[in-house]
Amino acid sequence: MMYFGACYYPEHWTPKQAKDHIPLMKQAGINVVRMGEFAWSRFEPEQGRYRFEWMDAVIQALHKEGISTVLCTPTCIPPQWAVQKHPGMLQRDADGLVRNPGSRCHCCKNAPEYQMLADRIVDQMARHYADMPEVIGWQTDNEFGCHNTTRCYCDHCQSAFRDWLLEKYKDTDSINQAWGTAFWGFEFQQWNEIPLPRRMPAGNNPSHWLDFARFSSDTQVKFQQAQYELLKQLCPKHFVTHNFMGGFPEIDYWKLAQFTDFPSWDNYPESGEDPFLPAYHHEITRSFTGRFWVMEQKSGPTGDANTGLMGEQPEPGDIRRWTWQAVANGADGVCYFRWRACLSGAEQYWHGILDHDGVARRRYREVAETGAELAKLGAALAGTAVQTPVAILRNYAMLWSAERQPGAPGFHYDAHCYEIYRAVKRTGHGCDFVDIGSDLGRYAVVFAPCACLADKALADRLDAFAQAGGTVVLTPQSGARTPTNTMWAYPRPGAFVAIAGLTVEEVRPYHHGQAEAIEPAGGQSPVPAATVGKWVEVLACREAQPVAQYAGGALKGACAATRNIRGKGAVYYLGVYLPPTALEGFAAAVLPPFPVGALPPDVEVTRRTGKQGSFLFVINHGKQPQTVTLPKAFPELLTGGTLGPEVRLEGNKLLIFKV
Ligand code: GAL
Repeated sequence: MMYFGACYYPEHWTPKQAKDHIPLMKQAGINVVRMGEFAWSRFEPEQGRYRFEWMDAVIQALHKEGISTVLCTPTCIPPQWAVQKHPGMLQRDADGLVRNPGSRCHCCKNAPEYQMLADRIVDQMARHYADMPEVIGWQTDNEFGCHNTTRCYCDHCQSAFRDWLLEKYKDTDSINQAWGTAFWGFEFQQWNEIPLPRRMPAGNNPSHWLDFARFSSDTQVKFQQAQYELLKQLCPKHFVTHNFMGGFPEIDYWKLAQFTDFPSWDNYPESGEDPFLPAYHHEITRSFTGRFWVMEQKSGPTGDANTGLMGEQPEPGDIRRWTWQAVANGADGVCYFRWRACLSGAEQYWHGILDHDGVARRRYREVAETGAELAKLGAALAGTAVQTPVAILRNYAMLWSAERQPGAPGFHYDAHCYEIYRAVKRTGHGCDFVDIGSDLGRYAVVFAPCACLADKALADRLDAFAQAGGTVVLTPQSGARTPTNTMWAYPRPGAFVAIAGLTVEEVRPYHHGQAEAIEPAGGQSPVPAATVGKWVEVLACREAQPVAQYAGGALKGACAATRNIRGKGAVYYLGVYLPPTALEGFAAAVLPPFPVGALPPDVEVTRRTGKQGSFLFVINHGKQPQTVTLPKAFPELLTGGTLGPEVRLEGNKLLIFKV
């Protein structure tokens, strides 16, 4: 079954205002609601006095109409009494300024008073709802780290950071060694000399920074772990999820996802934006456990809580397309944010399925139409999943290292992962994401973009994958740093010299728009001719063979990209950032062929496969009609006909084939 729902805030409505809500939900095919994530002040109006009966009544009324509940732990916003009583639990920013209460996410997860209060409310809720059959699962808190709050610089964090370091390094000598503290006299004799990387006159030590980024992420993970373990112990029948933020860069979601049954995420696409971006976030979220939901799916104009600006209306067909795009990329549940626009508060302009007046209009009708389609196809899709031979290594420590020191002007680790992802998607293949310890056995090709932090263990793992027949693709700046974010004392690509079969003779960051032409080299090359800039590397082959070289200028004839045969497979090293078209050409050349003909620019294809067969989704994200060539004609499930091999697809529409 597909879960199809809405985020609902019963505490925002009087009974009179709410009287049509549940009948309208039912008519729209909604079968689940998410509630409670900001309602701690209603659940515990005074310390230790718990009030759940108001929520129980809503849960039961929904259930009478066949609508289940995902409840949230409300720990994102403690009641005002709690903050008054314990002002020490407020976060501090890098300048030491307090993050004031009155909105959300302002409490420090290392503050003992906050941990204690959070523990108690979760415990009380879990005990109260454990056996209520209407409740199917939990979402913990809300979007950990939202509003730039992953990293806190308060005194609780100062001492927790030292404890974290003590556990990792055991003594100050090891830390001095690992961080290279001889530079700028940053050496420690005592643990209490180690500061937080608060704002400093000049740049902080990158190793200090990386460990602080790791520690801050671990703080969020630990908070989740505590709630997850409590909920699983007290409510064994319920699932536990958390609403991630797709590619959000500050929390190691690989670790966070371990303390969920599956992650979910919040998807707010813009009507005209690059349609592959939401797909990127869907596939990232799916990759953590193989399953996911979209817990908040945009269903109306957004409304920025800070600027007060109202966002654009979704165009007709957008909500349906976004919903199906989530399902096509593997989602098993989609909940719209929010049921009805709120009359008060910072998000007054953030619309939902219904406007402020609660009248069911165009967006509601589109949701209902989508709900009917999902209800029709849900059973067939249940148990199917996206399977792909391609993976991208996306590691958070590498991301944090590259965020602190991007090296190349304008370089962003995540944008680079996205460029590669987009090139893969244009071939038709879906794409999994993997971490450094993930099992690579099921893939044919693994891209390791800017794998900047590397050691022998990672090199060996990638090598074993290549030796067994896989293809590894490394890109510029890979391998140069140790896992503690110092530089290796030998040639780039550092830890990857042996598996790439080359050394980097020179790196050339280009700050003034300089460009180089490259051309294929060495016979059959997957690298097309292209113009490259930003940062180029001059490669010296050892065992590797050139597959691209510089075509002119001072670098003419020097090697720009290589292939190194390893056992039954190969390691490619790209010493340049290929522009999108060249990257697409490269991806098409190294990936297994995909059975659908060349895809028009805004068309996405995905496949979900299971025991009951395989389903091919073809989505036209653009406004113009497009034609796609399938290998043959197939039954189409939305129209009930048989279509193909040539299929014409209207703008903003999709088709689903049983193949
Ligand atoms: C999400 C958040 C929701 C709501 C929504 C609209 O990021 O989880 O609580 O704020 O954005 O702003």
